[in-house]
Amino acid sequence: MSPEPTNPVPINTNMKTILITGCSSGFGLEIAKHFLDRNWKVVATMRTPDPEVLPASENLRILPLDVTDAASIAAAIREAGPIDALVNNAGIGLLNALEGTPIGKIREIFETNTFGTMAVTQAVLPQFRERRAGVIVNVTSSVTLKPLLLLSIYTASKAAVNAFTESLALELAPFNIRAALVLPGQAPDTRFADNARALMLGIPEAYDDLAQKVFTGWAESTDPKTRSRDVAEAVWSVVTDPAAPSFLPAGPDAVAWAAAR
Ligand SMILES: NC(=O)c1ccc[n+]([C@@H]2O[C@H](COP(=O)([O-])OP(=O)(O)OC[C@H]3O[C@@H](n4cnc5c(N)ncnc54)[C@H](OP(=O)(O)O)[C@@H]3O)[C@@H](O)[C@H]2O)c1
Repeated sequence: MSPEPTNPVPINTNMKTILITGCSSGFGLEIAKHFLDRNWKVVATMRTPDPEVLPASENLRILPLDVTDAASIAAAIREAGPIDALVNNAGIGLLNALEGTPIGKIREIFETNTFGTMAVTQAVLPQFRERRAGVIVNVTSSVTLKPLLLLSIYTASKAAVNAFTESLALELAPFNIRAALVLPGQAPDTRFADNARALMLGIPEAYDDLAQKVFTGWAESTDPKTRSRDVAEAVWSVVTDPAAPSFLPAGPDAVAWAAAR
């Protein structure tokens, strides 16, 4: 007879699955690691799947997903199978004056940040409603807590998600589905600022002084900033604790702005 195994690894028969958008870098990547480390099954989605960015794990699946592409959303949700939680994290930034931003660029920001969030949410709702269970976490931004220079379009795209989520939460409550918001502060450790800079098409000359003011403010700021870990912890608490706030600033700067509002 073979001996009993010593220290058997506990088998978690009740593993839950989370699907996260925008996992190639920054918050999405950190959220994926956080849930993997805590025994969740993670469907980490990326526009261009790169298995190198996450530790190999039998609990990890990496799927392609572009939140602006309906066919891509349908394929990813079909492929993912049943999920318990959705995190709409994918997003792009933009710093420019309204005058310097062509309407096509504005639509691009909303396609990703706003309509992308709505479309992915729509795609998971039938399974959540049928099972009468599920959590949706939408990652917006602390810029919606305080108006800032040259961020009108980006802020509008995220403020729309705040309003959308708060109303959606009411219509989903009867089905035992939660919808919540995590609002990160400014996080210099992600690719976000670089990506936003790449989207800047040139701030009109008339706004040069304002732009200088923004850049100087960033350079001189010694305020504590948000880390990706703050965001992952906030998402964790919203997903795993039904009593967690449904409007949760993440990071010391976001928490301070929320308190001052
Ligand atoms: N960093 C900050 O200061 C800050 C503050 C507040 C809120 N946020 C928000 O936090 C979220 C994550 O940002 P981050 O700081 O982690 O920036 P990041 O490092 O640039 O990550 C953004 C992620 O979104 C993905 N993405 C962009 N467009 C997409 C699309 N159409 N479909 C699917 N994925 C797409 C990117 O993928 P690719 O690799 O394919 O581009 C990337 O994985 C965003 O919603 C952002 O608005 C950021």
